Amino acid sequence: MSELIQQLELGRLPQHVAIIMDGNGRWARQRGLSRLRGHQQGAESVRVIVRTAREIGIRYLTLYAFSEENWQRPRSEVQALMSLLKHYLRQELPEMQENGIAFQVIGNISQLPLGVQKEIAATMAATAANQQMTLTLALSYGGRSEIVQAAQSALKDLESGSLTIAELTPERFSTYLYTDSYPDPDLLIRTSGEFRLSNFLLWQLAYTELYFTETLWPDFRQSAFLQALLSYQQRDRRFGLTQEQIEAQTVSASRY
Ligand code: FPP
Repeated sequence: MSELIQQLELGRLPQHVAIIMDGNGRWARQRGLSRLRGHQQGAESVRVIVRTAREIGIRYLTLYAFSEENWQRPRSEVQALMSLLKHYLRQELPEMQENGIAFQVIGNISQLPLGVQKEIAATMAATAANQQMTLTLALSYGGRSEIVQAAQSALKDLESGSLTIAELTPERFSTYLYTDSYPDPDLLIRTSGEFRLSNFLLWQLAYTELYFTETLWPDFRQSAFLQALLSYQQRDRRFGLTQEQIEAQTVSASRY
């Protein structure tokens, strides 16, 4: 950790990192283990990455833990994932409190088993005042559904007269998304060598830097995460501007 962390510019970290955690099943298959064992090791990676992100000062960490499509997996796997999630929340609450981590969820939470919903609500309530980092799990989440749900809410406001068509700018539309109060992700990481977004944060990823790695999620630990952050720091983020414009902005910002 120490060598890689020394190479990081801590003043230029991404504010918001989003991760598509993929490859638990392949990790298990390569070892002749059950898929559940892969998910258990994956949960261990979640612990390590949350701790590391908090330690180095990332403000928002958003993890894709269960997609809308994942409901189609075998019942036994869905049940195992739900109970792993409940267990994780119970076990990690003290550490979230100690480290000032606020816990949040995005997705269609009403579809989750009641026991999981209760655990989520309790963890969110207990950590609501924490301010160092926001850890968000995307659960029963789908990006297109999120956008449609946002459009429906905006249409309701149009109907009731609290919104006009002209007022519906991209900024205003963003406030109808689950991620209303979050900055857009600066960096998206996807593990396991797949090059897809899989319906994750479709609106929010418009200008996000993408990082793909072959490493399977259960093997994605501290040094792999730091490598991803180092790669991010080598990127030029121009948001559609020219390099000259960016340099001029930097010069004028440094005057104040
Ligand atoms: C993808 O691997 C992973 C998931 C669908 C679930 C993610 C769950 C965890 C990381 C563990 C539990 C989470 C928490 C927050 C405690 P895959 O099963 O699709 O892998 P494969 O593509 O190799 O089959």
